[in-house]
Amino acid sequence: MIVKEVTSNNTINENDIVLTGDRPTGCLHLGHYIGSLQNRVILQNTINNKKRCFVFIADVQGLSDNFATPEKVKKNVVEVCKDYLSVGLDPAKSTIFIQSLIPELFELTVYYMNLITVARLERCPTVKAELQTKSFATSVPSGFLNYPVSQAADITAFKSTAIPVGEDQKPVLEISNEIVNRFNNTYNTNVLKECKPILSDVPRLVGIDGLAKASKSLGNAIMLCDDSATLKQKIFSMYTDPNHINISDPGKVEGNVVFTYLDAFYENKEEIADLKEQYRKGGLGDVYLKNLLYKILDEKLTPIREKRLLLKEDYIYSVLIEGSKEAREVAKQTLNEVREAIGIVYN
Ligand code: TRP
Repeated sequence: MIVKEVTSNNTINENDIVLTGDRPTGCLHLGHYIGSLQNRVILQNTINNKKRCFVFIADVQGLSDNFATPEKVKKNVVEVCKDYLSVGLDPAKSTIFIQSLIPELFELTVYYMNLITVARLERCPTVKAELQTKSFATSVPSGFLNYPVSQAADITAFKSTAIPVGEDQKPVLEISNEIVNRFNNTYNTNVLKECKPILSDVPRLVGIDGLAKASKSLGNAIMLCDDSATLKQKIFSMYTDPNHINISDPGKVEGNVVFTYLDAFYENKEEIADLKEQYRKGGLGDVYLKNLLYKILDEKLTPIREKRLLLKEDYIYSVLIEGSKEAREVAKQTLNEVREAIGIVYN
C-alpha cells in the first residue's frame, strides 16, 4: 500500500524504513532544505514511528575529508542537530543520532570492504567530483575513497529502504545496493535490504553565483541560520542576467538565479509565470524581483531562525545521546545477523 507520494516521483509504503544523514562540516543551507530536509519532515510526520525513521550526523564520514580538523567536525555536530530540530525534525518521531556512537557500523564496514573493488570506488562519479574539489592530488586517503562503503553500513544497519538525499548521492546509493546484492549472494542470505533514493523536486540547488551547486565551502549558499540582513545581502548579490542593464531591456530567465530560487521556494506559480513573461519582454527590474524573493525567503526562514535560538547545547546533546542508544540496539541486532550469515559466530 502506498502511504504517501512524497514528491512527484517518489512514493513510500508502510514497510519502508527511512534513513538519512549529513556530514557535520558546516551549518546546513537552503540546498539541504529544499533537497532533503523538507522531505524528511514530511516523511517523519507521515510515518510517525521513530523505529522506522532515522536521521544521523555522520561525524566519522565528516572526518574522512576533515581528519586534521576534528574540532570543526565536533562543533558542527551540534550545529547540524540544531538545524534539524529548527526545521521540524522531532526526536519523538525520528531517531536522531551520532554515527561515531554506533561502533557496529564500523565492523559492518570492514566486512563490506571485501565485497567491492577499489576500481569501482574510484569510478563513482560522486567520489570523483568530490576529489576534484579537494587538495588530495594523487594521494587520496583510503578512508575517503571508502566512504561509500561506510555509507552502505549506515544504510543497511537499520535495514533502511528509503533514503532522502540530494541527487549527487544517487551513485553512492547504487554502490550500497551492489554491496547488498553481493553480500546476499555470497553468503546465500537475504539479511540485507536494497534501498531507493527519495529525491526532491529540486534535487540540486544552484548557488547564488549561478556557477556551481550551493555549498558552504564555496561560500555561495544561503545558510538556514543567516540573519535577515545577511539573507538580503546574499539575495542582492545573486547572479541575474548581465545584459539586463536597464529596466526596459528584455531579460533572460534561464540561468537567472533569482528565478531559479523563485521556482524552488515560491508557491504562487501563476505569479512566477507572469513575472517571467514580463521580464523577458522588458520592463521588470532585478530589484523588484530580489525584494520579492527576500520577502518569501525571510518569511520561511524567520520561524526556523527563531526556533534555533531557543535550542541549548545541553538539550541537543541529550537528544543525540538518547537517540544513539536506541539506534545502537538496532545496529547490534543487524550486526549479529550479518555475522551469522557470514558464519563467524563463536560460542
Ligand atoms: N554522504 C552524505 C553527505 O555527504 C552523508 C551520509 C552518510 C548519508 N551516511 C549516509 C546520507 C547514509 C544518506 C544515507 O551528506
